[in-house]
Amino acid sequence: MTSSTNGFALITGASAGIGAIYADRLAKRGFNLILVARNQSRLNALAERLTKETGRSIETIAADLNDKAALAKIETLLREDPRITMLVNNAGIGSVASVLDGHVDSMESMINLNITALTRLTYAVAPTFVAKGSGTIINISSVVGIAVELLNGVYSASKSYVLSFGHALQRDLAGKGVRVQTVLPAATATEFWDVPAIRSKRKPRAR
Ligand SMILES: NC(=O)c1ccc[n+]([C@@H]2O[C@H](COP(=O)([O-])OP(=O)(O)OC[C@H]3O[C@@H](n4cnc5c(N)ncnc54)[C@H](OP(=O)(O)O)[C@@H]3O)[C@@H](O)[C@H]2O)c1
Repeated sequence: MTSSTNGFALITGASAGIGAIYADRLAKRGFNLILVARNQSRLNALAERLTKETGRSIETIAADLNDKAALAKIETLLREDPRITMLVNNAGIGSVASVLDGHVDSMESMINLNITALTRLTYAVAPTFVAKGSGTIINISSVVGIAVELLNGVYSASKSYVLSFGHALQRDLAGKGVRVQTVLPAATATEFWDVPAIRSKRKPRAR
């Protein structure tokens, strides 16, 4: 069960929610994993469970992608580790604050995570995948990237960015053997909704 022909998928925001589900499903489909998020103990618990269940090789890296030095380490890994065959840019945070009551510093943090980190990680891995003539980049946008009036404007705009960026990636990389997928989830029952202001928008029920 440990042999894998799919290589390693590096997943950001893998300690919870949608990222943890990607980890579970990719391990079960034959990928080894590199799990990235801030909370080392949650990453360890997930890695231990998935190793037991699938026999895959699973590594964890505790990193705050809003921290430039920590982000640079993940970029270096993506540039230099030939085992990596897939990048899942999933880490992201949301908000429902209006422009009048949202704090601009938290908006900047959201831009740094949802846009800057996703962009830098993609730029790090794309040339390596092109050189190999294969690889997959999955970027998690949101339905609010289209239905922009539903939540906070900066959050929606960050997800519109991910969608636009994905179109350009497809144009630039598809002919070079690299698969690009932009995912637009609708409301999904995760801890994303556990921020009080977002919870007031009604957390969806898990199915
Ligand atoms: N849930 C929804 O309804 C929904 C709908 C559409 C799109 N999305 C998008 O789906 C993605 C995942 O959301 P989710 O619902 O799964 O949220 P979640 O349950 O809150 O999980 C977010 C993940 O990102 C990690 N993370 C947060 N800040 C980070 C940072 N600075 N550096 C590194 N990792 C960080 C968190 O782990 P740590 O705390 O351990 O760092 C966690 O693993 C996001 O991009 C979100 O915008 C969600």
